[in-house]
Parts: sequence; C-alpha cells; structure tokens
Amino acid sequence: MQIVVDLTRCQGYAQCVFLAPEVFELHGEEGLLYATAVPDDQVERVRQAAAACPVQAILTGEG
Ligand code: F3S
Repeated sequence: MQIVVDLTRCQGYAQCVFLAPEVFELHGEEGLLYATAVPDDQVERVRQAAAACPVQAILTGEG
C-alpha cells in the first residue's frame, strides 16, 4: 500500500496520528511526516486513518 497526504488539505486534525502513530507523525505545527510505503501490519490502521481524516487528506492506493 502507498499513501500520500495532501498537505494543501491537511488541517492538522491528527486523527491519523492517533490511529496509526507508527506511520503518521505531526511535525511542527503544520507538516506531517509519513511513510509512502506502508508495512503490511499497518495497512488496516492506515485505512482507518484515511477514513477518519475530516478533510480526506489521506489518499491510499495499492502497490
Ligand atoms: Fe491532517 Fe487529516 Fe491527519 S487533517 S493531521 S491528514 S487526520
């Protein structure tokens, strides 16, 4: 699974960090640090994070 966080949409709600802290990390006041390739054991957490983001900033794809 691959993920992209659209930083022009992200408003720092941090639902992603709460749900998948091993993948997402708030960086300073605005930026997000994230892995582009998600380990297999984190895929379900990332799906939940993408669904939970209030502004749909997390885009996921297979591959
Ligand atoms: Fe940003 Fe959405 Fe996470 S607004 S901090 S990508 S929950």
